[in-house]
Amino acid sequence: MFHELTVRAVRRETPDAVAISFDVPEALASEYAWKPGQYLTLRADVAGADTRRSYSIASMPGAPLTVGVKRVVDGVFSTFAQDLKPGDRIQVMPPEGRFCPRGEASVVLIAAGSGITPMVSIAAEALARGADVTLIYGNRDTGSIMFRDALDALKDRYVDRFTLVHILSREPQDVDLLNGRITGDKVLALGRAGAVDLTGADGVYLCGPGGMIDDVSAALTGVGVPEDRIHFERFYTEEAGPRPERSAAAEAAAQTGVAVEVVLDGARRSFRVEAQDDNVLDAAARAGLELPYSCKGGMCCTCRCMVAEGSAEMAVNYSLEPWELEAGFTLACQARPTSEKLVLDFDAA
Ligand code: FES
Repeated sequence: MFHELTVRAVRRETPDAVAISFDVPEALASEYAWKPGQYLTLRADVAGADTRRSYSIASMPGAPLTVGVKRVVDGVFSTFAQDLKPGDRIQVMPPEGRFCPRGEASVVLIAAGSGITPMVSIAAEALARGADVTLIYGNRDTGSIMFRDALDALKDRYVDRFTLVHILSREPQDVDLLNGRITGDKVLALGRAGAVDLTGADGVYLCGPGGMIDDVSAALTGVGVPEDRIHFERFYTEEAGPRPERSAAAEAAAQTGVAVEVVLDGARRSFRVEAQDDNVLDAAARAGLELPYSCKGGMCCTCRCMVAEGSAEMAVNYSLEPWELEAGFTLACQARPTSEKLVLDFDAA
């Protein structure tokens, strides 16, 4: 599932963020065809540990495959990635993710910090097909704005259809409404001021910290934006609390042990989940079987699979949407069996 790609270019976006582009060999071109809003999982041996992280694609349509990586405090991979240079080779999984525009005629994009990364390609694609786009983009100060040149270029090109609103938390701007952090109240105030049409938008896309997404989503539904028009992507949850305990059913199953079968790339493999395993992914790793994963935190969806037989609960879920839960999907990194036998199909679309 991973292929080794060559780093084509590294562009410094801010003092702590880079845009990394890859060369994709002709033979892999169809596998690495991407949609705006998707992400790549990168993998490298960092200080002796197999480390992988997901980063959103920030390419303009037709441009080289590019991701944005912002250094996070104590971030092992994001720090490592700052020093990548052209010619380096790195393991990359083909594009994944469903945070993709749906052909809407008007979209509102709301991003904080590195949450801008998928918005660059989403905005470019939507503008290119004639949509109206409003982007509300929050940062500390001007110096921490990622993809500023790309956004300015879009603004110049689509002056009538692209509205770009910068919100800065530590650099005063003349208009008071543009100061501070992105919150639900702030977004509604921007709507009242006429800077953005929230209820008229066909789709609202949010990317950033979980707290921002929850607050803004609640504010939007509170003013009548239908839930099915609100889409979000969260890659980190700074407010994640202690890991939930297993339910009684999951505890009982774990104590007796659960026979698990997985279907992956057409092959069937078996292993057991025992009391020592927090989730199916951990149990598979203990059995020497590598299942797809990236964040291990319920955020990226790389480990998404279908419960084909039996049942499982998730410790946390920050990425599967209600329809996916209804259809029977789960996240292997969070799945705890609640039945004696569990069959998970990773090939299910
Ligand atoms: S590995 Fe990211 S959600 Fe499971």
